[in-house]
Amino acid sequence: MSATPPERGRCGVSRRGLLAGGAAVLAAGVVGTPVLAGWRGQSSTGTVLASRIPLPEPFGWPLTIPPVLAPVRSSANADHFELVQQVSRAELVPGWRSEVWTYGGSFPGPTIRSRRGRQVLVTHRNELPVPVAVHLHGGVTPPEHDGYPTDLILPDEPWEDRGPGHHDGDVTVGTRVYEYPNDQRAATLWYHDHRMDFTAPAVWKGLAGLHLVTDDEESSLDLPDGDRDIPLVIVDRTFDARGQLFYPSLDPTLTHTPGVTPPYEGGVLGDVILVNGRSWPRHEVDTALYRLRILNASNARRYQLRFEVEGGTDLPIVQIGSDQGLLPAPIMHDHLTLASAERFDVLVDFRDLTVGSRVRVVNDLGDGQTRLVMRFDVTGSTRDDRSVPDTLSPSFERLREADATTVRSMVFRSQSIGDQHGWVTNGEPFSPDVTQAHIPLGSTEIWELTADLHHPVHLHLAHFQVLGRGTGGPGAFDHGWKDTIDLRPAERARILARFDGYRGRYVFHCHNLEHEDMMMMANFDVI
Ligand code: C2O
Ligand code: CU
Ligand code: CU
Repeated sequence: MSATPPERGRCGVSRRGLLAGGAAVLAAGVVGTPVLAGWRGQSSTGTVLASRIPLPEPFGWPLTIPPVLAPVRSSANADHFELVQQVSRAELVPGWRSEVWTYGGSFPGPTIRSRRGRQVLVTHRNELPVPVAVHLHGGVTPPEHDGYPTDLILPDEPWEDRGPGHHDGDVTVGTRVYEYPNDQRAATLWYHDHRMDFTAPAVWKGLAGLHLVTDDEESSLDLPDGDRDIPLVIVDRTFDARGQLFYPSLDPTLTHTPGVTPPYEGGVLGDVILVNGRSWPRHEVDTALYRLRILNASNARRYQLRFEVEGGTDLPIVQIGSDQGLLPAPIMHDHLTLASAERFDVLVDFRDLTVGSRVRVVNDLGDGQTRLVMRFDVTGSTRDDRSVPDTLSPSFERLREADATTVRSMVFRSQSIGDQHGWVTNGEPFSPDVTQAHIPLGSTEIWELTADLHHPVHLHLAHFQVLGRGTGGPGAFDHGWKDTIDLRPAERARILARFDGYRGRYVFHCHNLEHEDMMMMANFDVI
């Protein structure tokens, strides 16, 4: 894979061109663009792309639960899984069959369940028309298995038309085995595509799924399980007049030119909300306590969720876990705010409701129908004596600011790159060759993250705790171990991150996937 792509730069925005343009802009000190102003004051940075089909009635069909993937074989301390990445069709909106890109045929992909200390090996076979890279988001994974953006699985058939960045990573053809040591706390992780420049459209088409890690501490709690432990993968999407997923790529073949057409560079916001791959579903529940694991897998949309009882008062939301597993003790909320890639593990109690009650999950940051997410219908009366544990994680370790060895500043900001709108980290567009930090393995650092607009910043490998925002302490949704923080416009947050696990090169980036593809990503090296 060392041949130089013959037509690199054909599109006029080759990576080198972009880099050179970025440097020139930087030297001239030009920052920001007029379009920036339009995104200020919005609840999500991005622009709504409207569907061309009539929006379906909300709550018209049942929620589905992503299938749980069965291992193809297991040994004493490892489980082996196989997934074929393939084009498929899915009914995302009633009556329409949309072409999707899938892990194993389903949108979202199947859920992988694993236990701390048992290694997971996933063989991915790429039958899609483009290269892929698979990242386990939140995983403590050796670098060669982390889905680095240029570590690609090329399609089997000759991949003549190599786009930017397709030649310099660790590339395989057809298949690749990802090894996950899984030596980490119980947590709601997810896996998704991570190919350089084209992550956003690939995830939009369906390349995302859950990976749930459990451990002895979690199993010792009597948390709701079975069909009372419900994953909710929330995304927004847009459909064209034929009911196909619609995304404003500059290059619809997803091979050469990254990015989206104006005015969507701030983020692509869909106008149809899907939960577990179905528009505005409803789900029947009993008068019982439920565990909901909520993932915002949207490219750019933020949500503020409430559980609104029709004709009654909102249900309290008991948060038991964050991105990286159980909190020390539960926290009560009346709403949850989630940016892209954040997970909230919550308990919702339907026991005080009568059969026939309906509970709408409402998004107060939405407009029109994006104000709605799904509905729970209480249909069964049962007795459930479970209580919410007072203590969730006795082993929870609080990081100490005094243990930090370094303070680094990371600035996430809009910047013109050449004649395109771009997004940069400390003034630099992403390049696999540029490293922002060399960090000794096992060390704890303070990172000061500054944002111009909404930038949900995610670190690979390292998990962190939020020290504060602005001059205050952590926000209401910053508790516990995190791997993604919802930075808001003109905000500075301080996080304490511990770089445990493995040596090697990892990325950190904005998880607004349009920003990520338009270069708001950077490397750190654990040494
Ligand atoms: Cu969710 Cu770098 O990824
Ligand atoms: Cu990640
Ligand atoms: Cu961003």
